[in-house]
Amino acid sequence: MKTYRKRISALLMALVIAMVAAIPALATALKPGIYTAGRTTSYADPETGKTVDGGTDIALGDSMCANILDKKVLVEYDGDKTYLTIGLGMMSYIKKDSVTVQVQQKNGKYKDVHAEYTGKSILDGDDCYHYRFEVPDATARFSPRFYVMPMSRYVQFFGQVNTTPVAGNTTSFKAEKGTAAGIAQAAKHKKARTAWTIVICVVAAAVIATVCILLIKKKGKKNDKK
Ligand code: HEM
Repeated sequence: MKTYRKRISALLMALVIAMVAAIPALATALKPGIYTAGRTTSYADPETGKTVDGGTDIALGDSMCANILDKKVLVEYDGDKTYLTIGLGMMSYIKKDSVTVQVQQKNGKYKDVHAEYTGKSILDGDDCYHYRFEVPDATARFSPRFYVMPMSRYVQFFGQVNTTPVAGNTTSFKAEKGTAAGIAQAAKHKKARTAWTIVICVVAAAVIATVCILLIKKKGKKNDKK
């Protein structure tokens, strides 16, 4: 009887833990849609404190990258993949075909990603080119690299979304992921799926708990008869 109860308690405990773990994961994920977020920049790698391009004037580099990167980042989430679009200003000083972007992956390592040019705007009186690339999640660190002609060398710096993405596109970048209506529809489906997952978990837990209680009672009655 004791081992039987222990097994049932362990089963219920595992079920509760699984539900507690699943619900916040569902609740914190971005809903499919288009968002605008703020960003932070750093010349040196924020984890190592060292520059990638070998530059040593960190204060000058920090002010350059804070100025060159558009203050807003476009975040697109289609329910599966997340994309960021960033804007690089001062493009009249930069060799256009030299721009590449690395993105920090979930394992902490940086990987070259395909950065697609999606258009241009004007930032502080100079051309600002827009680059769109995939990220593991909206707050993954990204690291643009490009050749600065007056410096006669490549520079590389780091950026990261640092504010909660707000629904809607208030950037000057073009959103590539479908229409607003399509994304709203996808968001509605995702919401319904999340609600159903929670309902199914709760019902399953209730059914299992009821069955367990009935079995315990039945076993108890059998023992009483003996
Ligand atoms: C994120 C972008 C940039 C970063 C991180 C950066 C960083 C730096 C750093 C660390 C230096 C000190 C000297 C060195 O280490 O070579 C420097 C110098 C300089 N930068 Fe940049 N820079 C950037 C963009 C630009 C742009 C767009 C221009 C174009 C106007 C520019 C023009 C210069 C010039 C003229 C110098 C002085 C070069 C020299 O000392 O010979 N930089 N930059």
